Amino acid sequence: MDEKIQILIIDLGSQYTQVIRRSVRYLGFHSVILNPAESTKWLEGNKPKGVILSGGSASVYEPDAPQVPKEILDFNIPILGICFGMQWLAYIHDQSSVHRVQEGKSYGPVEVALNPSQLFKDLDNKNGGKINAWSSHGDSVKSVPTGFSVIATSLDNSVIEAMENVARKLWAVQFHPEVEETKDKNIILNNFVEGICGCVKDYNQQDVIEEIRTNTKRELAGGVAIIGVSGGVDSTTLAAILAPALGQQLKAFMIDTGGMRKNEIERVKEISEKAGIDLEVIDKYKTKFITTIGQSIDAEEKRALFRKVYGEVFQEVAKSYGATHMIQGTLATDLIESGGVGKSAMIKTHHNVNLNLGLKEIMPLSDFFKFEVRELARGFGLEELLAGRQPFPGPGLYLRIVGVPVTAELLEIVREADYLVTEILKKHKVYEQIAQSIVALFGVNTVGVKGDGRVYGYSLVVRTVATRDFMTVKGFYLNPEICEEITSALVRNSKIARVLYDFTPKPPATTEFE
Ligand code: XMP
Repeated sequence: MDEKIQILIIDLGSQYTQVIRRSVRYLGFHSVILNPAESTKWLEGNKPKGVILSGGSASVYEPDAPQVPKEILDFNIPILGICFGMQWLAYIHDQSSVHRVQEGKSYGPVEVALNPSQLFKDLDNKNGGKINAWSSHGDSVKSVPTGFSVIATSLDNSVIEAMENVARKLWAVQFHPEVEETKDKNIILNNFVEGICGCVKDYNQQDVIEEIRTNTKRELAGGVAIIGVSGGVDSTTLAAILAPALGQQLKAFMIDTGGMRKNEIERVKEISEKAGIDLEVIDKYKTKFITTIGQSIDAEEKRALFRKVYGEVFQEVAKSYGATHMIQGTLATDLIESGGVGKSAMIKTHHNVNLNLGLKEIMPLSDFFKFEVRELARGFGLEELLAGRQPFPGPGLYLRIVGVPVTAELLEIVREADYLVTEILKKHKVYEQIAQSIVALFGVNTVGVKGDGRVYGYSLVVRTVATRDFMTVKGFYLNPEICEEITSALVRNSKIARVLYDFTPKPPATTEFE
């Protein structure tokens, strides 16, 4: 008997089933996802307070459609059917109630008009009882079975979006309340789980942490895992969670690629120490990175060279630790987005995607979202990870030396320039408003005059952008006073003849120069 589990989620094949669980967890309740066969077995020894039937791509008319355990209807516990779950609830009560669609799916946003219902409490009385929801379905319910009433329709009245049979404790929605695109702030799921099923909030951060530890330990079995810590929120928080649980089975390290920002290594060391991570900084490969990447000035070739060296170094490090597994801080969004990679155009090679190192991969955060990881980080007192730090690409400063081969000396110029610009932006209190500030060295000689002498040197380009998601960016225009201060700070370097500013949006330019 699994006493903690309050909600059983029966997985009927939806790509959003994990998202249902994540939302239920975020609301504070324990749940379990089981497929129909596992559910039948589990229900022999357990009684949840409610059942959620997920969506799924099948049609109730297909002979091999998922077989929902019918006995749940006799348990007198509330059931919420979502999408296919709704169609199944309708079909099981009246086999003529579901409209079969032969071709074409309704996919995307739908405006839904809500009628008063316990399921829609706090939503049906606001905004004229309308919400923007997300749907993805072929079939739909064309008439509700006897005993049910319609509690929501699409605004054009063409689709029954929700129904209920309060006496039999059955509720169903055609749209997907679990996804972010349904703008209900999870109120619908909370109304069901807490309001209708009477579940008690009992899932706290410690449970989340324990679950991550237990699952990772189980996957790791007796092996040894490596985790690359970059100083970013995801990898650092994950290492902090796992370090005490895995002990010697976890080796946390950071590779100094030679392309880091100024003081970056010290900062990551400090944070790791505070988080209880025994971090090893591996810096013996710096020259290998510089000389290899310095072989080309072509953007994609440089990225490929970085990736190659990174892979080789990672593999050597793994070998030296006798590692069997590699732990990655990949998040749900990363996976969802990379699912689309095959169809979207390849713009830039990323250094840590599909490295294929011959190690088993464990991704303990793969059903977590950024905001949840940020909450975990806060729980660990890792506030400095969260304090508005700008993103920094894996290949780092290598991407910011353009048109000339990378050398240790040029890296040092951009590193110092990046530091000076960051300090000036912070001093003027604009740093927080800028999504990313980049300083790149353009390897084209131009003429200048310093003191009384001629200079024939490179340019530094300062690029500041504003964006939420980096899919598109807008230039963040710096005021003349700030530009003046930056320019005079950067031209102090004898190799630099001029300072340029770049506020080109993306598209057409990308955020980084390479
Ligand atoms: P772009 O240049 O593609 O950059 O508009 C969007 C965001 O991604 C960062 N970026 C990278 N991050 N590895 C990373 O970890 C990479 O290879 C990489 N390339 C770009 C970039 O700094 C910006 O924040």
